[in-house]
Amino acid sequence: MGTTGLDHFQRQPTGCRALYTMTLLVLGNGYLFAMIQTFHVHGSRDGRPGLSHTDIQLAYSGSQKDTRLEAALKGPMSGMIKPEDAAVITGWVRSGAGMEPFREEVLPLMQSHCLSCHGGDTEIRMSNPHIPNLDSYENVIKMVQLDTGQDIYTMVPVSHIHLFGMTFIFFIMGTIFLHAQVRPKWLKCLIIITPFIAIFVDIMSWYLTKLYQPFSWVVYISGIFMGVAFVIQWFTSMYQLWFYRLPAEVAENGS
Ligand code: HEC
Repeated sequence: MGTTGLDHFQRQPTGCRALYTMTLLVLGNGYLFAMIQTFHVHGSRDGRPGLSHTDIQLAYSGSQKDTRLEAALKGPMSGMIKPEDAAVITGWVRSGAGMEPFREEVLPLMQSHCLSCHGGDTEIRMSNPHIPNLDSYENVIKMVQLDTGQDIYTMVPVSHIHLFGMTFIFFIMGTIFLHAQVRPKWLKCLIIITPFIAIFVDIMSWYLTKLYQPFSWVVYISGIFMGVAFVIQWFTSMYQLWFYRLPAEVAENGS
């Protein structure tokens, strides 16, 4: 029996290893879906495929030159409408956003492409009051203001959900990973600590990006650190759970 630290996976009862394995499988899938979601919501903001630090800048501090309506049409709403129809809406904004051309050109497009979600009393808006109502000139014009990115009232709830959620995820991941054999010990500690620092720095940098755009790099890089730590913990744990044979001297002395 080991006297230093936790026992290695290989000395855990089968039931315990089965529990770890299933937890890793489901968490791994969760992480993949989170990635898909992130790429889908933020990836196309700058008009280029893939998630870049400029996408992050646009998300948190806005383009500072497009209106929110235009930014939405270029970014997360780009799949809802044909580019030539989107161009009609953008053209209306650029030519002064008057009431008459709105009634004639823009409202019909909104009715056929947008109001199923953005109407006055749609189900999706009942469940998320941050989705703007676009059913009239007065409401649409509120979106025709300079895009300064996500507002604080959207960021605060996402921040606390992420801080709580990621703490749970990396506590569970780290607790499983503790049973792995990794040398030197400081490296093991570093892999366990990294995601906690990364999530904290990541979320603080959302707000800092609002104040100073180059902080989007910090958001980007801390996201990479978090992902790398997740992948290392996941694969090391999974491998050592089922395939790794402990070196003889460690097997005798504990992990
Ligand atoms: C399938 C449902 C759906 C359709 C259709 C849809 N949207 Fe959205 N829209 C959303 C959701 C959900 C959000 C909020 C989440 C987000 O920002 O991705 C949103 C957010 C927005 C925002 C706010 C962005 C911001 O700055 O907060 C604008 C503007 C917008 N949509 C415009 C449009 C326009 C214009 C159309 C039609 C071409 C459209 N949407 C079609 C679901 C939809």
